[in-house]
Amino acid sequence: MAVNHAESPPRLVPGRLLAATHNKGKVEELKALFEPHGFNVVSALDLGLEEPEETEATFTGNALLKARAAMRACGLPALSDDSGLAVTALGGEPGIYSARWAGEPRDFYRAMQRVEDALKASGSADRSAKFVCALAVVWPDGQEAVFEGEVHGQLVWPPRGDRGFGYDPVFVATGETITFGEMDPERKHAMSHRAEAVKKLRATLLA
Ligand code: IMP
Repeated sequence: MAVNHAESPPRLVPGRLLAATHNKGKVEELKALFEPHGFNVVSALDLGLEEPEETEATFTGNALLKARAAMRACGLPALSDDSGLAVTALGGEPGIYSARWAGEPRDFYRAMQRVEDALKASGSADRSAKFVCALAVVWPDGQEAVFEGEVHGQLVWPPRGDRGFGYDPVFVATGETITFGEMDPERKHAMSHRAEAVKKLRATLLA
């Protein structure tokens, strides 16, 4: 689903693009997805921007909140990513709380274990899950656009592979046999929730 808040959002002109995220894994993926199109991706982490508290109830709401805060802080068009893992048997959890399930400091083995424990406690044999990504772009003149992508799959245990980030080692996309954690990053970038959202963004803002 693509949600365009602007009637006809402006084109995204190749140049400096602020990635409104402090997550190194996401910064790397956004660089890989945008730099081939002539963008120089700088991140909120590189610029030492403060990370706003994610107070919205949806991926789209939190993506907009982060992009607005970054755009206001430095006046550049800002791109943000809010994403997470939604597990069917857990009613969509951890969802927007995916990063928070890793605790502080972030420990994704702990987060994956928590998902596995919750699945066991649910008594459900359904191990289906999806990654969801909402990409928001906010321009200095206040225009905004949001694009969403999903990838469906199954959760495995124990975790496999040390590539990727977050919950990648427990997620096997539909039609695949290896986890995102075992997969060549280029292959993940071609099929991920983020790739689907980027594809929609490109078709609307870069066409
Ligand atoms: P947030 O969008 O910064 O709130 O964090 C989203 C969290 O979802 C990340 O910290 C990861 O744990 C998880 N996540 C999002 N995208 C991916 C992905 O592509 N692979 C694995 N985990 C992901």
